[in-house]
Amino acid sequence: MKYKIENLIDKESVEKRIKELAREIERDYAGEEIYCVGLLKGSVIFLSDLVKELNLPVIIDFMSVSSYGSETVSSGDVKILKDTDLDLRGKNVLIVEDIIDTGLTLEYVIKYFKEGKGVKNLRTCTLLNKPDRRKVDVKVDYIGFNVPDKFVIGYGLDYDQKYRNLPYIAVVIPE
Ligand code: PRP
Ligand code: MN
Ligand code: MG
Repeated sequence: MKYKIENLIDKESVEKRIKELAREIERDYAGEEIYCVGLLKGSVIFLSDLVKELNLPVIIDFMSVSSYGSETVSSGDVKILKDTDLDLRGKNVLIVEDIIDTGLTLEYVIKYFKEGKGVKNLRTCTLLNKPDRRKVDVKVDYIGFNVPDKFVIGYGLDYDQKYRNLPYIAVVIPE
């Protein structure tokens, strides 16, 4: 497919918004220990930047669940590729995502963390949110930006595994 890339949210705006989210999170957790669990691979860039801004005792863990493969649309078929390493029972857990699209990935992980892992206090944080595409009603506590229903890349988000390293958010436009 021939395509072009158009900027959507510049680097400075993303960085500024991450700082604002960090302040909100600090306020809500008020000095408590927080387990930030990133969903691989999309969340890694956002999670890295977010935790550096958090003036709280932070513990990092990762989980890998995939539903997209190389497709550009969600299959809704969620698989655990790698579970968390740490015991999250009774902990404050913040799930960190790059984007919430249909909500199917997050819905699955929330259910698994609450019912399977006994997480005490579970919240969710995403850099991007695409409300137009939602299929299930999931609670997202911290949202960086709402984005239109376009194929977004950068800051962890990929197009066929590429462009995760872009330091800004862009849109893929077929030509
Ligand atoms: C993408 C994205 C979210 C999920 C959102 O991950 O990073 O995790 O899809 O979609 P949903 O709300 O419709 O479930 P993907 O499966 O592409 O894996 P990746 O993070 O490794 O890119
Ligand atoms: Mn992902
Ligand atoms: Mg992906």
